[in-house]
Amino acid sequence: MCGIVGYIGKRNSLPILVDGLKRLEYRGYDSAGVAVINSATEVKLFKKAGKVKEIETQIPVNEFEGNVGIGHTRWATHGEPNDNNAHPHTCMNEKFYLVHNGIIENYKTIKKKLASEGYVFHTDTDTEILVNLIAFNYKKHKNNFEVAVRLSLCEVDGTYGIACLCIEDPGKIIVARKGSPLMFGVGQDEIIVSSDASAIIAHTKNVIYLEDGEYAVLRRNGIKLKTIDDEDIHREVQEIEYDLDMIEKSGYDHFMLKEICEQPDIVQNTYRGRIKFETGEVKLGGLTNIKEKILNAKRFIITACGTAWHAGLVGEYMLEQYCRIPTEVEYASEFRYRNPIIRQDDVVILVSQSGETADTLAAMREAKKHGATTLGLVNVVGSTIAREVDAGTYIHAGPEIGVASTKAFTCQLMSLILLTMMIAKEKGTIDDEELKKIGAEIELLPYKMKQLIDKKDYFKYIAEEFKDAKNFLYLGRGLNFPVALEGALKLKEISYIHAEGYPAAEMKHGPIALIDENMPVVFIATKDGTYDKVISNIEEVRARKGKIITIATEDDDNIADYSDYVLRVPKTHEILQPIVNSIPLQFLSYYIATARGCNVDQPRNLAKSVTVE
Ligand code: F6R
Repeated sequence: MCGIVGYIGKRNSLPILVDGLKRLEYRGYDSAGVAVINSATEVKLFKKAGKVKEIETQIPVNEFEGNVGIGHTRWATHGEPNDNNAHPHTCMNEKFYLVHNGIIENYKTIKKKLASEGYVFHTDTDTEILVNLIAFNYKKHKNNFEVAVRLSLCEVDGTYGIACLCIEDPGKIIVARKGSPLMFGVGQDEIIVSSDASAIIAHTKNVIYLEDGEYAVLRRNGIKLKTIDDEDIHREVQEIEYDLDMIEKSGYDHFMLKEICEQPDIVQNTYRGRIKFETGEVKLGGLTNIKEKILNAKRFIITACGTAWHAGLVGEYMLEQYCRIPTEVEYASEFRYRNPIIRQDDVVILVSQSGETADTLAAMREAKKHGATTLGLVNVVGSTIAREVDAGTYIHAGPEIGVASTKAFTCQLMSLILLTMMIAKEKGTIDDEELKKIGAEIELLPYKMKQLIDKKDYFKYIAEEFKDAKNFLYLGRGLNFPVALEGALKLKEISYIHAEGYPAAEMKHGPIALIDENMPVVFIATKDGTYDKVISNIEEVRARKGKIITIATEDDDNIADYSDYVLRVPKTHEILQPIVNSIPLQFLSYYIATARGCNVDQPRNLAKSVTVE
């Protein structure tokens, strides 16, 4: 949700900023811009609607050299995505330049106050109000850049990650954070600011994370870290865990394709060192301090958004089935606003790839307010949810750059499986033989997933057949109902084909009216306790001439009689089957979207990390 980058050092900042913008573009791609100051304190401001790739050649990288600069990729909140509303924004007297991620909620009040002081505004953004407020406070407080920024931030309500330049104090960048992530890499005589590690990793692995309510004054070779309330802070430098090649496409056409294909390896990172395959025993070190609370929980509440919410639905089936603990799954955005009943013996599980999703974060804080125990299943190390939960376990999917979540989903499922196994064993709600079977199947899982990656050309062929479809239905039951929901979400978000996921048996209560010879229906029909029922649902669609695509296990000899197309998957333990079944659905969406010429890594209107409500 907007990407921020900044550089101060000895090098020419523009190429570094542009490279950083490209890496952060998955966070928003409505517009991009940079502001750079040179040694003669001249400023070059360039900003434009469009993706970085589209406007890159117009950025004056070879015409202007400056050692201090800031940049921004935008996901529009206030004001349409045009050149004028693009960041950086400047104030009326053009002394300050600001990039901002977040929302200033009281911008109207501030605007009124500034307008009464003679300030005029040229954009529709809340950011322009903030940069003018800084200019106002600068004048009021003896031209002190740091004081102006700090006092301005004390006046604003809402969320922000900011980086600010002042042409009268050009040896500094001031950055601050409240609710929107910000970090900086500490190199040799240089500092690189970024919303996440991806823009930093090419320069240094040493980073400092800014916390909410803090700001930093960054000089080429010095950092001052303080709270907005003016207290000094000391923070150790940390090392980023991953390498540059993890955020490169490495020969794949798209990040999404790379992320789908790397799942057999990546899912191993989720369970490596945490499970004994021979017995199925699981140890999740990160949960030690809340283990008693987990085992004595009267109820689990899983809360998340989008794909992570789908993973949560699978989690509900597993936790109830194997641990016999009542489990509810809530959209984080609804949970926080409906005055939920949360008890002290509830464990609230937050599932989030980014660890920054505003609604999930707010749901977590709501749960904490009521004294519940919070447990995070998060991908991004050091993210806000990861830091604020009582305890958690990282899913270890590595950086996910494609906007449509793929590998994070399967790793979220794997984390929920491990959690289920650990609790079920401790509570004695699973017998040892069953646990052993799951352990053995987890060991085989990467090989089975790999078999599906090797079949991608077949999935591509099926996708070609359906690329012109106007609608799709995805149906599944039990553990495969959330898989159907996720399949439909994947298709609609990257191909813009309307798709719905339903429990297969619900079809007859309404959606069946949609079925005719033009409606492709994807059935997730792998063999489990609901298989026969699903076959009956397939028959109902066949009778109405719908086109039937089934996801079926390799040993299913009958399914071809009921299907127009069969996507075969290896059979595994039922608890692992959703991971396996998701892969052909990811490929189907990917290849349909690419066949339609869609930009799968940057679908329209979406952003990777939704840090606004
Ligand atoms: C869909 C997708 C989104 C996210 C959702 C939650 O492909 O990626 O639906 O799952 O925005 O994001 P996180 O997991 O970062 O909290």
